[in-house]
Amino acid sequence: MILISAMGSNRVIGSGAGMPWSVPEEYAQFLSFVRGQTVLFGRKSYEIFGADLEDARIVIVSRSMPDPGRPGVQVCGDLEQAITAARATGRTVYSAGGATIYQQTMPHAEAMYLSTIKGDWSGDAYFPEFDESEWRVTREEDHPAFVFRIHERR
Ligand SMILES: NC(=O)c1ccc[n+]([C@@H]2O[C@H](COP(=O)([O-])OP(=O)(O)OC[C@H]3O[C@@H](n4cnc5c(N)ncnc54)[C@H](OP(=O)(O)O)[C@@H]3O)[C@@H](O)[C@H]2O)c1
Repeated sequence: MILISAMGSNRVIGSGAGMPWSVPEEYAQFLSFVRGQTVLFGRKSYEIFGADLEDARIVIVSRSMPDPGRPGVQVCGDLEQAITAARATGRTVYSAGGATIYQQTMPHAEAMYLSTIKGDWSGDAYFPEFDESEWRVTREEDHPAFVFRIHERR
């Protein structure tokens, strides 16, 4: 499983019902990574971003959400069921947030695709702290508005 996220330098990932920045090239990169693959979302993040993912399989973790009746989209009532369902698709599984899902799926991840958005941002949802010594950075790209890094588990 690959965690994929964009965050501020203070690890903020969200503000209310969205992200505090607008960086279309970073969001386009996210969409291109997950195209044709499988995305695991918490219910709140699905409600924010799900409509943008047209050709990915989506597995939503929720104790409250009814099945949306959308092809390729399923709801699982707990994380273990969701991970099993996501892996059963046979596609690359991206854990795409939010904060509750990053926290719970980090132990299952072999890689993290993390964009750090330049500038100061405030919000109310954060990417979890992690021990940098457990990961090595295998790719680093400096874009005008963000720095993209791939972290692979040692
Ligand atoms: N910058 C980024 O890359 C990025 C990516 C994604 C999200 N975000 C931001 O993150 C924020 C949302 O994150 P969040 O942490 O508040 O919400 P979230 O993780 O998207 O969704 C939380 C919901 O997921 C369900 N859930 C979580 N763990 C579960 C479990 N073990 N079993 C069953 N259901 C479970 C629950 O749904 P029910 O209440 O329905 O039971 C819970 O209320 C937003 O601000 C969004 O913009 C940012």
